[in-house]
Parts: sequence; C-alpha cells; structure tokens
Amino acid sequence: MDPKLYHLIHVAAALLVFLGLGGMLTGQGGKAYAVLHGIGLLAMLVAGIGFAHKSGLGWPNWMIAKIGVWLLIGAMPVLVKRGVIGALGAVVLAIGLGATAVWLAYYKPF
Ligand code: HEM
Repeated sequence: MDPKLYHLIHVAAALLVFLGLGGMLTGQGGKAYAVLHGIGLLAMLVAGIGFAHKSGLGWPNWMIAKIGVWLLIGAMPVLVKRGVIGALGAVVLAIGLGATAVWLAYYKPF
C-alpha cells in the first residue's frame, strides 16, 4: 500500500478519535462515540506504524513518545468515568495531547 495512503488514514483516524472523545463527553449517543474512539485509535496506530515502516522511518524516539500520547488518549474515557478528571479537564488534556502528537510528527525533536 502507498505510504501516502497510510498517512491519510492516520490523520483521518485521528479525527475519528477526537470526534469520538468529544461525543462521549456530551454523555449522549450511547456507545456510538465509544466505538468511533476505539476504531479511530486502532486505525491510527496501525496506519502510523504502517507509514513509518513503508517510508523507512523505523522506530524513532518521537514515535515512541507518540505511542505514549496514544495510550493516554485511549485511557481518557476511563479517567473521566472514574472521576480522575472532569469534563473540562478532559477537553484541555485532549487538546494538549493532540497538539503534542502533531508537534512530535512535525518537529521530530528527538
Ligand atoms: C493522538 C495521537 C496522534 C495524533 C493526533 C497524530 C497526528 C498526526 C498528524 C496530524 C500527522 C501528520 C503530520 C504531517 O502533516 O505530516 C502525523 C504523522 C505521523 N504520525 Fe501521528 N498522531 C498520533 C499518534 C501516532 C502514533 C501512535 C504513531 C505511531 C506509532 C504515529 C506515527 C506517525 C508517523 C510515522 C507520522 C508521519 C511523520 C512524517 O510524515 O514523517 N502517530 N500524526
């Protein structure tokens, strides 16, 4: 598969993740948003690793850091459900984590 297609799927999947997370925070829509969040997370991980593999990037440190961001974004619904963070905290954290992930991909600081 063309690396460009992995890249496209990765970015489109990231949109699903945040749409799902936002929808879940509204407390409406039943399980639909949780499913969007889950499918997005899986597709984002597979396509991110697929892109890195196909384009010869290997496993740079910034990508390991992105997996850390991915884990945190994945854990957020549980953190909200258990009351570890509130809805406003979740919004701020999601923006921060999303921006960090994009920064890591753009600047590849390490
Ligand atoms: C919340 C999590 C993440 C978000 C929001 C995110 C978002 C993005 C975005 C927007 C880009 C496009 C940058 C560009 O314009 O080229 C990108 C690129 C990339 N991401 Fe992610 N990403 C996330 C997690 C991950 C994970 C978990 C991996 C791999 C394990 C990964 C691997 C990559 C790779 C390899 C690129 C391409 C970098 C390049 O073009 O050289 N990302 N990511």
